[in-house]
Amino acid sequence: MNEQTWHAVDEWFCERLIGYDPALDDALAASAKAGLRAINVAPNQGKFLYLLARIQGARRVLEIGTLGGYSAIWLARALPADGTLVTLEAMTANAAVARANLAAAGVSDKVTVVEGLALDSLDRMVEEGVAPFDFIFIDADKSNNPHYLERVLKLSRPGTVIVADNVVRDGRVADEAHRDDDVVGVRRYIDMLAHDARLESSAVQTVGAKGWDGFAITVVKA
Ligand code: SAH
Ligand code: DHB
Ligand code: MG
Repeated sequence: MNEQTWHAVDEWFCERLIGYDPALDDALAASAKAGLRAINVAPNQGKFLYLLARIQGARRVLEIGTLGGYSAIWLARALPADGTLVTLEAMTANAAVARANLAAAGVSDKVTVVEGLALDSLDRMVEEGVAPFDFIFIDADKSNNPHYLERVLKLSRPGTVIVADNVVRDGRVADEAHRDDDVVGVRRYIDMLAHDARLESSAVQTVGAKGWDGFAITVVKA
């Protein structure tokens, strides 16, 4: 078993369960052309997020980390006609690519790309008292995950689902010898989930086109 096999199986699943999807495929092509790193979720992961949001019946979705809007297109598609997605992005260039991709995918009317550091945007939303989100996807700078969790809990309600990407990173999360900021951030995030009586959480590892990684999933109890 090796990374090549993981890729082949991902291709096999994606071919069957997702297939050619112009809006999504074009979004990745435009992102590559603009020089963005290909650190978007894989197609089958994007559809997995879409399904989670659908299952949850999410009407208000929050994403931290837009990049070129690939996962945002998936999440926007999960929304009902009057649903909204707010997605936070620090880099102006990324936000511009995302806006163009979201427009081309026909979901612009449901999506607001908020430029700026996510912590600032989150603090502003808390201060403004925006309505709670039903589904939250955390996928930006992992070192800030503990701070993101603290903020998004103020933007949640009982039943809100919180998913965090990249919680495994080739197994580094469970290897205490790894002390870099991203891994420490994820480790602290998991510990916060574990010790917060308001939350129920699990985490699953994934292998595939994006290597060996994983998602943490949480539901807010009360
Ligand atoms: N969710 C995207 C991938 C996001 S990659 C997808 O799957 O398609 C992570 C993104 O987070 C990058 O675009 C990066 O610029 C952004 N980011 C990193 N630090 C940030 C911060 N402090 N505030 C807001 N965005 C940040
Ligand atoms: C990186 C970030 C991501 O969100 C991801 O899915 C993969 C890699 C990174 O910063 O390397
Ligand atoms: Mg990610």
